Formats: sequence, structure tokens, C-alpha cells
Amino acid sequence: MLRSHTCGELNESNIGEKVSLCGWVQNHRDLGAMCFIDLRDRHGITQLSFNELSASSLLEVSKNVGREYVLRATGKVIERSSKNEQISTGGIEIQVEDLEVLNQSSTPPFTIEDETDGGDELRMKYRYLDLRRPKLQKNMFLRHRTSQAIRNFLSKENFLEIETPYLIKSTPEGARDFVVPSRMNTDQFYALPQSPQTFKQLLMVSGFDKYFQIVRCFRDEDLRADRQPEFTQIDCEMSFVQQKDICQTFELLAKAVFKETINIDLPAFETMTYEEAINLYGNDKPDTRFEMQIKHLDKFAKGHGFQVFDGAEKVLGIVAKGASNYTRKKLDALSNFVKRPQIGAKGLVYCKYNEDGSFKSSIDKFFDAQVWQNLAENCDAHAGDLILILSGTENQVLKQMSELRLEMGRQLNLIDNKIFKPLWVTDFPLLEWDEENQRFHAMHHPFTSPKTEDFDKLSSQPKQVKANAYDMVINGVEVGGGSIRIHDRATQEKMLSLLGFSDKEAKEQFGFLMDAFEYGAPPHGGIALGFDRLCSLLAGEDNIRDVIAFPKNNQGRDLMIDAPSEIDPYQKRELGLIN
Ligand code: AMO
Repeated sequence: MLRSHTCGELNESNIGEKVSLCGWVQNHRDLGAMCFIDLRDRHGITQLSFNELSASSLLEVSKNVGREYVLRATGKVIERSSKNEQISTGGIEIQVEDLEVLNQSSTPPFTIEDETDGGDELRMKYRYLDLRRPKLQKNMFLRHRTSQAIRNFLSKENFLEIETPYLIKSTPEGARDFVVPSRMNTDQFYALPQSPQTFKQLLMVSGFDKYFQIVRCFRDEDLRADRQPEFTQIDCEMSFVQQKDICQTFELLAKAVFKETINIDLPAFETMTYEEAINLYGNDKPDTRFEMQIKHLDKFAKGHGFQVFDGAEKVLGIVAKGASNYTRKKLDALSNFVKRPQIGAKGLVYCKYNEDGSFKSSIDKFFDAQVWQNLAENCDAHAGDLILILSGTENQVLKQMSELRLEMGRQLNLIDNKIFKPLWVTDFPLLEWDEENQRFHAMHHPFTSPKTEDFDKLSSQPKQVKANAYDMVINGVEVGGGSIRIHDRATQEKMLSLLGFSDKEAKEQFGFLMDAFEYGAPPHGGIALGFDRLCSLLAGEDNIRDVIAFPKNNQGRDLMIDAPSEIDPYQKRELGLIN
């Protein structure tokens, strides 16, 4: 070992010891007769000191090192005259007796500090330097501890970690596949797994009864703060279980992980049906850290001659407590917020329920005080509150209201980042209707079982059928999703036919799974948690990029290695992609 200790380890109890440290130059202060260097590694920072007692050649070397040089310093631990209480090594410094420059460094393109001056693009290009920043080092450590906690928990619960292949046939999870051409099978392609779904079900047929894998998944879809084209799942499957068994096991897993990694005791998980979530919060992953539930106002807002409401499919409102003092400027900004293309509302109606009991709204021409009084009473608004209303088609206005609710939560500081509100969302519809293509899609995936009590509605009222599926949601983040699976050929065939697969297509794509169901497939179900999303929640990060060592940017590019990129024509020819 070139070092006896790390840069985060020494304190007053080591005074007098002779030590060797290795690390990077964070900071360099040349005071003429004295020189100080802050030496950094992933464990911390230790101050090196050089003064008139040091050999003159040593003082000279110390003056010539630059930021991010790699050094090995040997010397004695001494007490510091001016202590830094902020860090654990702040009581001591190393009186350097020998200094070796292990490597030089060009001046880094941005400062290696939490509050760096480097923009996103630059930091992605030099990700290896970005990763030296304490924040990202901490996140990587947290990610490591999280995977350890998960492995420990699941191993104790008798789950087996089994790897499944990456070069597979397409498994539909709702996104596009990344495909890989096969050199040995011209004109044929593998697909990278969107998830190991069919393999984990086959492992249940093989009798492994409790499987898990921390596994990379690949989805070619539009990227957002919570989506990467390659991401990691904690993928699990269990045999001989019902929904409640899976929820119980994974609630315990989540609790163990939060406790072990960030010392948080998660509260008991609430359960909410999909319908409740949509009606009360406008989306299926509600952030329940604050109330402000959506009010359905058709009854009170229609029929007063305001055409926008009268002609709308749905009128929805929220009550922002204590916000009647919102200025014109703030209300205009809110109106612009809902009109942004990403949200797409046509306009926002507001009503200030003033402290003196009067009403002031953006549609005073149509609604008098009586109408507002009635509406306010029915949506639990009081003097001092601000009522915000949107209208439109049901699907759209629910989504828009959900965004507005979250924005008001942020503006009014109702979202406490220190608390965690976990819940299970259940009773999803099995199918969702795709208006554009006039066909059904599986809301979760095609292997999800309908609820037993809805089986006989499969042919007659497919839209009414509920899925035996559940999502784990924490603070408005969909952390995971799973379902009880179909485990017999007839139901799987029926499901695929409802989804528009011909018999031939069903056989071609999923024949292997349905064949397996004929050899004693046990009842089974499972779940997959998004590992990156879980880590970002634990780290308090808004973007999963900050918990992934080498993420892609929003265009799916790795700016550091410049991928994707052209390939050699020779390689293309060999793969049969060109003649
Ligand atoms: P699902 O598609 O719901 O289910 O995915 C499970 C969880 O994976 C995470 N996730 C993602 N994380 C980052 N980037 C992405 N692009 C991305 N896509 C999904 C989410 C999500 O909840 N096979 C089923 C699971 C099952 O039924 O057991 C599946 O993959 O946190």
C-alpha cells in the first residue's frame, strides 16, 4: 500500500504518528515561508503543511503542485493551530517530511466542488471528474449501501439471485426495444430486455419459488428526470403468493432499506385504488405529503352561462389554503404555467375568497357571489383561500390539475423533503384503450392476471376488468410496479387476443411461455422496483442521473465516450446491414 491511512481518517487521537496519505490536491495555499495543501480522497480532506522546518527542496515542490495533482505525502500528525470544526480531520494536519508527485494534472475544466462552476454538458463530457465531487461520491456510496441492504434482506428471506440473458427476444413493457444485429444469423436481431419479465416467470415454472436480480434494463423511450434508456431494476418473483404477500414482503424491504441507508423509519404504507388516486390527485402516483385534493365541480360550476365550463366534459378545482393574497402577477404566472405546451390547458380560472368574505374572480361577469359561496362551501374553501379551476376533457384536465396541484404545493412550501409518504396503488384497469390505433394495450404488461372476480367480464366488458396489479409510490415517485401473473395457456391466449395479437403472432412471440404453462406452472407474481429511482429518493436528488455513475443525457447520448456513433462499413457488412 502506498498509504497508511485515508484522507478522512485521522484526528487528534493520531497525533504523533507517522503516516502516509495519497490523494488529489483540492486546494493549495502558498504563504511564502509556509505552504498548505488540502489533500482529498473519497473519504475526506486532510491538510498537509510545509514550513521553515521542512527541507527547502520539499517546500519548493509543494509550491509547484497544481489542482488535482496526485500526491503521496509522508509525515507526522500534529495538532493544528487554527482548527476547522466543520470536518472530522479539522483538528490535525500532516507535518510533511516526504512528498512524491504521483501524477500531474491539467487544469480541470470545472471546479471539483459541490457548488461547481461546470455546466451539465461539460460535466457529462468529463464525467470522471464530475464523479470526484463529494456529492456524487456520496451518492455512489449510498447506491452501494442500498444494493447491499437489498441483497441482505432478500437473501435472508430466501430469495435466490439468478442472472437472466441480455440478448433476448422482445418483451413488451410499453417502450421500444433496443435491437442488436446478429452476425451469425443474417437479417435477425436480438432485443435487449426491457425487463427480465418472461425469464423470471419461467424461473417460477422451474421451481425456484423466490427469485431476485439487480439487473440492467433497456428501453428506447423519451427521457425525463426519472427515466434513462438503461436503468436498473430490483426484479423479483415469487410462487404460491397473492397480492398481499408481495406487498407485505416489499413493504418490509423498503422499510429495511430506508432504515439501513438513511436511518428513516418509513410509516406504514397506505393503500389507494387507482380510481381514488386519479380522482383525488389526477394521477396514479400521487404525492401525498400534502393534501390539496382535487374537487369535482361540475355540479356547482356548470349552468351559469360560462360557456367554457358549460361545454366542458369536466370542471375541476383545487383550494390553495391561505393564498387569497396572490398578486395579479403571480396569478398570471400560474396561468402561463398551465398553458405551457407540456401541460396544455387553455386557461386558468381563479377566485380569491378574500379575508373579508368577498369574492374576486377572473370570471366575475358570469359568476356572482352566490355562485362562489355555494361552490366554496362544497369544496371546503374558506375566507383567505384561493380557488383555482380548470376545465376540459376528463383525461386532460385531470393531468393538468395534477401538475397545477404539485406546482401550488411547491409555491406554498407544502412539500417537506424530509418526510416520506409511501403507498400502494392497486386495482388498475387491466387494459387501456388506444384511441389513435383503435386497440387495447395492457396497462401493466400482457402477463398480468385479471382480478379473479372480473374474469367473466374479459369478453363482454374488457374495459371494466381490473388487473391484479400494484404500484409502490413514495412522495409522488413510482418506485415500482408488479402483478400477479396469468399462469395458464387459455387465459394468456385470451389476453393476447384481446390485445390484438393473431394466434400466429401470439405463438411466434410468446409460444415459449405458453408452452411452459403446460408443464405445471405454479401460481406466481412479482414486482420490480426502479433501483435508480429508489436511490435518488434516498439521496434527495431530483434526477436519477445523479445516482448513476455514467448516465446518458436527454438525447440518449453518452457525451464522454461519444455514443451512439457510426460503425465501420466493414462491421456493417459483416452484420448484414449493408451489401
Ligand atoms: P415497470 O415497467 O413498471 O414493470 O418497471 C418497474 C419499475 O422500473 C422503473 N423504471 C425506470 N427507471 C428508470 N428509467 C426508466 N426508463 C424506467 N422504466 C421503468 C420504475 C418502474 O416502477 N416487469 C415489470 C415488473 C413486474 O411486473 O414484476 C416491469 O418492468 O421505477
